[in-house]
Amino acid sequence: MKEQELIIILDFYGQYNQLIARRVRECNVFCEILPFNTPIEKIKEKNPKGIIFTGGPASVYLEDSPKCDEEIFNLGIPVLGICYGMQLMTYMLGGKVKRAFKREFGEIDVQINNKSLLFEGLDDINKCLMSHQDYVENVPEGFEVIGSTDNCKIASMENKEKLFYGIQFHPEVNHTKNGTKIIRNFLYNICKCKGTWKMNSFVEEKVKELKEKIGDKKAVCALSGGVDSSVAAALINKAIGSNLTCIFVDHGLLRKNEAKEVEEIFTKQFDVNFVKVDAKDRFLGKLKGVSDPEQKRKIIGEEFIRVFEEEGKKLGKVDYLIQGTIYPDVIESGVGVGAKIKSHHNVGGLPDYVDFKEIIEPLRDLFKDEVRKVGLELGLPEYLVYRQPFPGPGLAIRVIGDITEDKLDILREADYIFRDAIIKNGLDKDINQYFAVLTNIRSVGVMGDERTYDYTIALRAVTTSDFMTATWSKVPYEILEKVSTKIVNEVKHVNRVVYDITSKPPATIEWE
Ligand code: XMP
Repeated sequence: MKEQELIIILDFYGQYNQLIARRVRECNVFCEILPFNTPIEKIKEKNPKGIIFTGGPASVYLEDSPKCDEEIFNLGIPVLGICYGMQLMTYMLGGKVKRAFKREFGEIDVQINNKSLLFEGLDDINKCLMSHQDYVENVPEGFEVIGSTDNCKIASMENKEKLFYGIQFHPEVNHTKNGTKIIRNFLYNICKCKGTWKMNSFVEEKVKELKEKIGDKKAVCALSGGVDSSVAAALINKAIGSNLTCIFVDHGLLRKNEAKEVEEIFTKQFDVNFVKVDAKDRFLGKLKGVSDPEQKRKIIGEEFIRVFEEEGKKLGKVDYLIQGTIYPDVIESGVGVGAKIKSHHNVGGLPDYVDFKEIIEPLRDLFKDEVRKVGLELGLPEYLVYRQPFPGPGLAIRVIGDITEDKLDILREADYIFRDAIIKNGLDKDINQYFAVLTNIRSVGVMGDERTYDYTIALRAVTTSDFMTATWSKVPYEILEKVSTKIVNEVKHVNRVVYDITSKPPATIEWE
């Protein structure tokens, strides 16, 4: 990896750090995210072509706010500071940062000087996402203002000689028009990158790295049959071949026909060691009477690990557990500094003690659509790569409240009817995740001449590329009507069907 051109992203606890990394990768440049206090020697050693400071929630003038080594500004390497990163650059180089009365938030017109290398090819005015309360009042010596809004006179600045750039807005989010162009300009015009990095480089480098790391030791891969774990398995399989065994756990929380389908794919179409474990009783036993979503997730996370440990022991000495964790799992589990949204079973739901030498997560830095690209690169079939995601905790987080076999059966049937309708009507090309939820609500209905008091099923369908944000899908009424009728007619103990019209945020995709 040393010979690659590299951009270092210094992490100041911003919300969008991985999104910045992803935009850099989209521009075909390799990048690494390092903590803000990475020693200067380590940065020098890596010989980056440029450094990006991320945003962050702190205020630079507070004593304990995160700050980097001052020497960074003497390395002769271009720096781009984003939001907090720009304020930090200002503060450390002798400019002035102040707190405004009011927060500036939203998509705001930024007037820019497109003669600057950073803004080359952009319109004079661009809508950009602003989210700040602190602002730069005076630029440091040697800087010029190259962008402003009505409320923020210094929304962007440059020091052309030293190649230091600051932007108060966020170029990494979709809400900023031409955001990727700005990042591309920084990489190509200012850092002089050539853009030689591609997803196939990711595969090559990862396979090499994993080969060196695992050597001739054994590994087991937690395989759910979903995109992420299948791609992780294919990657490791390429690195260590038959020293890998994929373990598929049927925890009794799978969808209709799922266990059979996954087994078929991995035993008939792939040349991997595959073990299916029937662990229904132990999972459902542990979940009995549990209704809190976080507790469910923790129980499932732990039980998965115990099954992998036991299966590993049966195979002799297994040092490594491979998981298909991807970046949104990490972020939402609140690992690091972000807020915990939910403990994904493979991250925040892990028990304290895990009886493997190490857990390896080769896709931990990637977004879902990047994982799909890696899958295609590895030659996985499209139907597998574009399968809609299914969460590790399975139907446990789609049966609201406590879980019983009866409830699981109701949900499986309703979910199958909905999924089938989406696929048969060709909507699965545009809808990225669709499923049913068994709400814990029972309501009064009338069927024939009888009063019923039965469950409500909620249908959920969303459109998204990275699963970090999502929009509820506008499934045609006629299809919803047919699905609703079929569910109520055919699934016992359901007398009402509702459709979830909430996007993420403010909701999440799963209900628990
Ligand atoms: P949310 O509900 O957080 O979901 O908007 C985002 C994406 O992640 C999936 N998800 C999980 N996947 N383990 C997983 O493997 C989990 O614990 C988990 N929780 C949510 C969810 O299905 C959606 O695709």
